[in-house]
Amino acid sequence: MSGVSPPHEGHRGHTAIRLYNDLAGWWPLLSPATEYEDEAADLVGRLRDATSSPQATLLELGAGGGSLAFHLKRHYRMTLTDLAPAMLAVSRTINPECEHLVGDMRSLRLGRHFDVVLVHDAIAYATAPAAVQATLETAATHCRPGGTLAVLPDYIRETFAAQTDHGGHDGADGRGLRYLEWIWDPDPADDTYLVDYALLLRAGNGTVTVEHDRHVEGLFGRDQWLGWFADAGLSAGSDSDPWGREIFVGVRSGTARRQD
Ligand SMILES: C[S@@+](CC[C@H](N)C(=O)[O-])C[C@H]1O[C@@H](n2cnc3c(N)ncnc32)[C@H](O)[C@@H]1O
Repeated sequence: MSGVSPPHEGHRGHTAIRLYNDLAGWWPLLSPATEYEDEAADLVGRLRDATSSPQATLLELGAGGGSLAFHLKRHYRMTLTDLAPAMLAVSRTINPECEHLVGDMRSLRLGRHFDVVLVHDAIAYATAPAAVQATLETAATHCRPGGTLAVLPDYIRETFAAQTDHGGHDGADGRGLRYLEWIWDPDPADDTYLVDYALLLRAGNGTVTVEHDRHVEGLFGRDQWLGWFADAGLSAGSDSDPWGREIFVGVRSGTARRQD
C-alpha cells in the first residue's frame, strides 16, 4: 500500500491523484457507465428546457472517464474536457463520437458557446472559493446567453455526512477491482473533506495489489454557492436530487459578457 498522507496537506495538485493518472485504466471497473443511467435520466429531465433542439450542444468540464456522458450523448452533441489525459483516453473508448479536449475547468477558454455547460462531480476538486469561482466563470463564459449551467457537487456543507462505500467490478479481460471509499472530515471548520480509497487491483494473471489514494475535496455552503453563481452572471437555484445530492442549475443572462 502506498504511504498514507497527513490529513491536512491542502490541495496536492492534480497529478498526485493516482486514480486519474497512473490508475486511470481501472476507472471502468470502479465507476462504469452502467452505474450512471438513473442519474443521467434525472439530469436530462431537469435540463429539458435546454434540450428542445435535437442539435443542442453540451460542454462538460471534468468529464473524467465519460461514464455519465455515455448516457447524455443521446440527448446532446457533447464536448468532453478534463485535466487528465489518461481519463479522456478512457472516455474515448466508450464515447468515440464525442469531442475530447484536455483542459483545466478553472481556466479553459475554447472561444465557443454551448447550450448547456455541465460540471458533475469534478467540481469537488475545486477546494478553495477562488477555484469554484474560476470554474463558474469558465462555465458562464462558455454558456450561450439564455443557456443553462448545471453543477453537481457530491456534497455541500448542509448535506455532508461522513460515510463509507464499497464496490467494484470484474472486466472481460480477467482484471477485477474492489474498493473501499472512506469519506471523512478531519476539520469541519475548514473548506475541505477527505476521500480515502483502498483499491484492490487484480491483474489478468490473477496477481492482486493494494493501493491507497487520497482525494482532498471542497465543501461549501448553499448560500456561498448561490452567491458565486450570481457573481458569474448566472441566475441559479438549487434542488435535492433523488440521492439527496444538491443540484445547482443556473441560466446565463441574455446579455453578452466581456470575456466572450
Ligand atoms: C470523479 S472523476 C469524473 C467522473 C465522471 N463524472 C464520469 O462520469 O466518468 C473527476 C474528474 O475531475 C477531473 N478534474 C479534477 N480537477 C480538474 C480541473 N481543475 N479541471 C478539469 N478536470 C479536473 C479529474 O481529472 C477527474 O477525471
